[in-house]
Amino acid sequence: MIVCMASGNGSNFEAIVKSGIKIDLVITNRPTARVIERAKKFNIPYIFNSVEYEECIPKDTKLVILAGFMKILSKEFVNKYPTVNIHPSLLPSFKGANAVPQALDSGVKIAGCTVHWVDEGMDTGKIIAQKSCVVYEDDNEHTLHARIHELEHQIYAQTIKQILRTL
Ligand code: GRF
Repeated sequence: MIVCMASGNGSNFEAIVKSGIKIDLVITNRPTARVIERAKKFNIPYIFNSVEYEECIPKDTKLVILAGFMKILSKEFVNKYPTVNIHPSLLPSFKGANAVPQALDSGVKIAGCTVHWVDEGMDTGKIIAQKSCVVYEDDNEHTLHARIHELEHQIYAQTIKQILRTL
């Protein structure tokens, strides 16, 4: 089983599905997450559980894909189920929830996104792939995050396909 966990919009989830990767189940911790509508659109089952989301994982899960999942998973969970995440910065810079504003505030000229394995920390797991873009003088959080999102939609599906070949 391949499971996607998401808390919000789910544009990465949709890009992954459209790339041909078969997602068997979506787990969300937010009842209003747009990812639910997207799962319905593709006839992919979903489970909502705001607290016991870890318990919702099927035992035969071979890969967990985090796509905007805004909770830290337990050490036991990530040790048991290989879990990947996408983060909107060039890690190890700008960990956490406000990666894009952090990048803008720091004045970096190159930004991007990172696909990484998930460990018990926040955005601390081993880096698998990265893609970069230029930061323009007149960028704001919205424009820069939109550019990074486009990169995410390409790199996440490509990287997951590579991982699936090795599992
Ligand atoms: C992305 O920017 C991703 O890097 C971060 O959360 C956001 C999710 O976007 N982890 P979406 O819900 O896939 O549109």
